[in-house]
Amino acid sequence: MLLQVQNLNIFYKNVSIIENINFHIDRGEIFSIVGESGSGKTLTGLSIVNLLPEYIYVSGKVLFKDKNILSLNPQEIRNIRGKKISFIFQDTMTSLNPVLKVGYQVAEMLVYHYKISKKEALEKTKELFHKLKISHVINSYPHQLSGGMRQRVMIAMAVVCEPELIIADEPTTALDVTVQEEILDLLYLLVKKENRSMLLITHDINILGEYADRVMVLYAGRIMEIGSTEEIFKNPLHPYTKALLNCLPREGKKIEGIPGSIPDLKNLSKGCVFYPRCNSKIKRCLNESSVLQEVSPGHMVRCWLY
Ligand SMILES: Nc1ncnc2c1ncn2[C@@H]1O[C@H](COP(=O)(O)OP(=O)(O)OP(=O)(O)O)[C@@H](O)[C@H]1O
Ligand SMILES: [Mg+2]
Repeated sequence: MLLQVQNLNIFYKNVSIIENINFHIDRGEIFSIVGESGSGKTLTGLSIVNLLPEYIYVSGKVLFKDKNILSLNPQEIRNIRGKKISFIFQDTMTSLNPVLKVGYQVAEMLVYHYKISKKEALEKTKELFHKLKISHVINSYPHQLSGGMRQRVMIAMAVVCEPELIIADEPTTALDVTVQEEILDLLYLLVKKENRSMLLITHDINILGEYADRVMVLYAGRIMEIGSTEEIFKNPLHPYTKALLNCLPREGKKIEGIPGSIPDLKNLSKGCVFYPRCNSKIKRCLNESSVLQEVSPGHMVRCWLY
């Protein structure tokens, strides 16, 4: 096991944003977190690299190869972040430095983490850009590139130090569909070929089927269901998972969102957090929240129907 998140809780001003989340990521595995906007995907991802703002309270453990990331000192965490675990953000414009050539920015990662010379780092960067088929942009500035090309540069930056885990937070949301697929294919290859692991964060269950090995469905900071991608697609159990899957465009059927919106975390009722929007609710759901229970090996659901 490469990463193990244990009893993760995240609070902001006494409001529970993430409640008791447990999951693991194996070596070579692509694990996906899916859920609507505001469900806590990004904060979960940020906690893994210890990048949560200081005013956010976090408890639990994030074990990366048995070291608890949440209790490392700033220097120890800087040695892991970018080198052993890298993070790809959705917004490439704010992640890249606008006044530096992109090749130089990627090379800087190597200089920082491996203390090699600038010349050697640029050589290695050149090789990587060649491998990623983006050699022609190595001397460009971020604003000169398309969104898709900038995201490829971000991927170069994320893999240049050969990390063991890549966290990709909605890496393709801002891109059009064909570019989206190219970027995900590229990431998939870079992860699977080199036996790396990836945490793929997305609100679009549509894109998971082809890439993820396992899926965790998050709703209002709570795990609703977790299982292999095959199980989740073939045998979804939680009404929320089913609703997300119903958003898939199918022939002759137009895409529909899920009616209603995610609850206000400040005013959660004590019952199931999905209760107001659930079309399979029973009486019990109003006042009591189900535990997350295993219904078959590796497949867990939080719902009274099972
Ligand atoms: N820096 C912050 N300070 C306070 N609250 C925050 C902060 N960042 C996020 N939140 C709150 O935490 C909850 C989860 O946010 P998060 O960004 O993790 O959701 P998400 O699932 O990534 O959503 P999206 O799909 O929109 O990116 C939301 O209610 C959000 O308002
Ligand atoms: Mg997010």
